[in-house]
Amino acid sequence: MIDNHRLEAALETYLRTWGPLQWREDLLEPVADIGWVGQTFAALSMIEVDSMTMYRKIRTAGLDHDPRIRAFLFPWLAEEAEHGRALNALAVRYESPVVIRDRHDRRPTLRNSISWPSLAVLRPGWRQMQASYCVLGMVQEYVALITYKWLSNLVSGYAGACLLKAIARQEGRHMRFYREAAEVFLTIPGATSIARQGLKHLWNPVGIDAIGADTWWEAFGRLMVDEEFQRDFQEVDRILDCLPGMESLEIAGNFLVKNSGRLQAQSSKDARYSHPKAL
Ligand SMILES: [Fe+2]
Ligand SMILES: [Fe+2]
Repeated sequence: MIDNHRLEAALETYLRTWGPLQWREDLLEPVADIGWVGQTFAALSMIEVDSMTMYRKIRTAGLDHDPRIRAFLFPWLAEEAEHGRALNALAVRYESPVVIRDRHDRRPTLRNSISWPSLAVLRPGWRQMQASYCVLGMVQEYVALITYKWLSNLVSGYAGACLLKAIARQEGRHMRFYREAAEVFLTIPGATSIARQGLKHLWNPVGIDAIGADTWWEAFGRLMVDEEFQRDFQEVDRILDCLPGMESLEIAGNFLVKNSGRLQAQSSKDARYSHPKAL
């Protein structure tokens, strides 16, 4: 028996605070110095818009079976769609090139492993899978949160910075709902081991599975090589440590180790690079 009261309280907290972003495209400042960050905004816009595909997959797999998850997903989707629109507006300000998804990326990732037919197969196990979905949601929202927080310090202009901070706050609220829901669903027998296996073998930071690894590294490589950002990124592992049965997964740390070649290449690609503030 899951803790229904806790799940309802988490939903209530989220529904009390969700809502549209306060921003206007015409108030975003013109950008004097077109740096690399425009490409990052374009990639983020694509990743945010991809939430609609994720939503369809969630429904097909029956992961929205619980009425609290279903009630969360509608406003969540509305907020993510608005993020996509706002980030596209920022990318346009930076005259960012269009990012084309690498459609031929067929490596084993959490996303690629969840094909449409396999989603229907998952349906009978929706109780256990809901825990995996919520743990993953918590982690991805956290990565989104730190990314927007960092970008708010790099963007040109006050309106742009305020917009990114507002997006970061919404990602924080998404993360908190997912964390509460994950703690509730992880108490279901069998849920912990499925979530552990999924994260350990298939996890990638948010967006890689949607836009392809090469495009992702082009867009986020400058952030990823920054040591301070890496420290925030590795907090993923500490947050997971606090969830029952999710201790010592070290997925963020392992991701950095696995991609040390890419990180090195990124550092040497731009020898002038010392800190992301140097746009
Ligand atoms: Fe978002
Ligand atoms: Fe989010």
